[in-house]
Amino acid sequence: MDRDHRTSASEERPASFHSVGRIEEIPPGRTKFCRIEGKPIVIANWAGQIFALDGICPHRLNPLEGATVCEYLLDCPWHHFQYDIRTGENHYPKNVYPKDYPALQEQVGPLRTYRVELIGSEILVDLT
Ligand code: FES
Repeated sequence: MDRDHRTSASEERPASFHSVGRIEEIPPGRTKFCRIEGKPIVIANWAGQIFALDGICPHRLNPLEGATVCEYLLDCPWHHFQYDIRTGENHYPKNVYPKDYPALQEQVGPLRTYRVELIGSEILVDLT
């Protein structure tokens, strides 16, 4: 009997990486909200590129569940603050009110980004 030499994703997965689902679950321009060891994370797909960021919006600390993505900008569904999914930096309103609103500065902090690896279509996120 022939032995199957294919390697499953779980066998190749580094210990610090966590599976959050498959690419097919997140159409381009959409996100998936999930928790890894209790930590809220949002997974974003822009044009087939997958990104992982903190899942809580710094503005009012609401979850980014249901956020959408356009041109690398993640749009918070609550008040439409936008974050660059490549860097986590706030885009809007920071780009509109750069330094005129000292109070706003505390609300436009960046989202932390996380390293993503793909094994086949499985999405793995490194929280370290
Ligand atoms: S909670 Fe995200 S924009 Fe207000």
